[in-house]
Amino acid sequence: EDVGLLPTPPMGFNNWARFECDLNETLFTKTAESMVSRGLLAAGYNRLNLDDCWMQTSRSDNGSLQWNTTLFPHGIPWLANYAHQHGFHLGIYEDAGNATCGGYPGSYRHEEQDAETFASWGIDYLKLDGCNVFAEEGRLLRDEYRVRYHQWHEIFSRMSPPLIFSESAPAYFSTDATDWARVMDWIPFYGELARHSDDVLVYSGAGSAWDSIMVNYDYQVQVARYQQPGYYNDPDFLIPDHPGLTDDEKKSHFALWASFGAPLIISAYIPDLPDTVIDFLTNKDLITVDQDPLAQQATLVSRDDRFDVLTRSLSNGDRLLTVLNRGNNTANTSISLARLGLDSKCQYSARDLWTGTKSTITDSVQVNLDSHATSVLRITPPRHCKTTPTGTVFNTASG
Ligand code: DGJ
Repeated sequence: EDVGLLPTPPMGFNNWARFECDLNETLFTKTAESMVSRGLLAAGYNRLNLDDCWMQTSRSDNGSLQWNTTLFPHGIPWLANYAHQHGFHLGIYEDAGNATCGGYPGSYRHEEQDAETFASWGIDYLKLDGCNVFAEEGRLLRDEYRVRYHQWHEIFSRMSPPLIFSESAPAYFSTDATDWARVMDWIPFYGELARHSDDVLVYSGAGSAWDSIMVNYDYQVQVARYQQPGYYNDPDFLIPDHPGLTDDEKKSHFALWASFGAPLIISAYIPDLPDTVIDFLTNKDLITVDQDPLAQQATLVSRDDRFDVLTRSLSNGDRLLTVLNRGNNTANTSISLARLGLDSKCQYSARDLWTGTKSTITDSVQVNLDSHATSVLRITPPRHCKTTPTGTVFNTASG
């Protein structure tokens, strides 16, 4: 099976949720240095992605995009080379419309030229946002997005190597279930990942960061069936230095995204992250789950007024069990093997991916969790017991 450009979900850094438009060359070089010295690169975080506001306010005389020379004195090609020298890829941001969300030149009617520009700069990943897209006469807006993202898809399929294509189109339709579903129908065929819903709360933002994480989590649960090796649903950035999150919430955010097999793109000031945060971001067992080649997304088995229970098959035949306490108090729950579709006559062995503790499960699993904490167990069936795999394979035959 051809899994395309991205056999497992991308991992790395993006400036947006932490710094918004306050990005520059030094932020990226310092971040890269820190990702190397603190073990993030070795753990798999090998992408540095620029978001909005890296450009000048106008194109050059020949129509090409120009980087902001104050923010990037050595230039983007220099930064790409710097990234490559240190073991990273460099990604960039553009918009399918007339202007980016931040008001910089959009790619509309410059698609071919912009793709060539990015490739010539040494960039291999594009996040294509969807601000300022207006439908042509007689076209539904959602069809306008399809036409534009399809055009980029075609451009990339003619390039060798093509750029990894991160599509933001569905995020512009998540408030209408019909539009959203129709857009999601083509998304996996055109790109490698897609932002399907809201922005996670930015560092400077007012409101509850946890609630914003839960909003995207709930959207993510709804699009599980689209995910497959080579295409990943993107519930937005990890924000492990957000001042509005408790330690348990930061860990849950990571554990849930890893359970989803989601992109793990950190938007934080990495040089200042405490060691405790680096420790959980580099948890090998959880990263292995995130990067599992089956690329299944954990799906909801049950939900009550406190607990969400999710499960997912892993490529070696193991089962993942992820339990989130959404309630405001510490609480216990018991999850029967039968509820997970496992054979209650068998003894399973389990490993807690936070603590490394091993246990044996017969009949049911007991979990005790503080408010907003998440437990992740990797369950191995005994040899003589078959484990029914979860999930459905999204049919790509018509792609
Ligand atoms: C909206 C996107 O969803 C964000 O991730 C970010 O790229 C901003 N636009 C930039 O303007």
